[in-house]
Amino acid sequence: MPSVSADDEWSPLRSVIVGRAAHSNFPCEPPEMIANTMPSQYLEEFRANHPFPEYISEAADAELDQLAAILEQEGVKVYRPKHVDWGKIGGYTGSMPRDGLLTVGTHIIESAYAWSCRRQEITLGFEEILHDLAQDPAVRVIRAPAPPNPDTIYDGPTGAGLEGQPWVINNSRIAFDAADFMRFGQTLLGQFSHVTNLKGVEYLQSQIPPGYTIEMLEVTNPHAMHIDTVICPLRQGLLIYCPSRVSEDALRKHKVLRDWDLRPVPFTPKPRLEPPSLTCSDWLVMNVLVVDGKKVIVDKTDTEFADWMRELGMEPIFCPLRHVNSIGGASHCATVDLVRQACN
Ligand code: NVA
Repeated sequence: MPSVSADDEWSPLRSVIVGRAAHSNFPCEPPEMIANTMPSQYLEEFRANHPFPEYISEAADAELDQLAAILEQEGVKVYRPKHVDWGKIGGYTGSMPRDGLLTVGTHIIESAYAWSCRRQEITLGFEEILHDLAQDPAVRVIRAPAPPNPDTIYDGPTGAGLEGQPWVINNSRIAFDAADFMRFGQTLLGQFSHVTNLKGVEYLQSQIPPGYTIEMLEVTNPHAMHIDTVICPLRQGLLIYCPSRVSEDALRKHKVLRDWDLRPVPFTPKPRLEPPSLTCSDWLVMNVLVVDGKKVIVDKTDTEFADWMRELGMEPIFCPLRHVNSIGGASHCATVDLVRQACN
């Protein structure tokens, strides 16, 4: 098996990266970006060199150690990034690697981040892992293209395909976050968002292995950033979705989903209050890592969601993740699938 090989989000996970949360720093980007993507009550926190409260970063780091241990117990090979003091370099975090690395078949592709505060994240935290993976001649590691200097991504609309859309970034350079895409065999479903533009999608299409195609999902979320609180495939033929962000009709337009059982999350997620949800919506409840098409990592306090998973024939494995949530995501965001072994 190559050291990188994944064609979907649910086949048995064999190898994974789990992030690290220590020394996480509030991301600092222009106010219109933060206002459009972060919870409105915490906007003043997003300033330069402002660390997350230590109790949050430290507890989140311990939660991710626990997630790594759980996955190892499940027989998954786990890679961890280097410790980085993100405050010292004006960065954000090492806890959300799903945003920065996308596995497609045997290729692993680094995001061309729209956010300049994230530009060094993969180099500083994850380069040694990428170096290790690249030792396998079957694997292709694709690093991000350098952005123009000066960067023009926030300089107003360019009209190159994105007119009339509500995104803060323009289309003047390549920009995409890996977390705006998911694998469904040789089809990737993606979304445009405040961090993914048309040039980013065209670039990504040019880098993925031959035969793979990107299709863009029509989402109804003016704050879109990362598709993993919009849809989540649990196993072949079963997908859950956030009904306020995408419609069943929009999903059915895609041939890969046409015959699937598509289930809207049947409840409004409870507010994540302690610790406060500083960076994300309550839809993090559905941001789950599927271990093997049956087992799924669920926050230990998300009992309503866990009950629903059981009804759908899944088996929740509980892991505390509330402090990770506060920094930027749940078990899906905090990991990168490296190898998933299809059972055929
Ligand atoms: N920005 C999205 C995705 C987070 C993983 C949200 O807050 O729902």
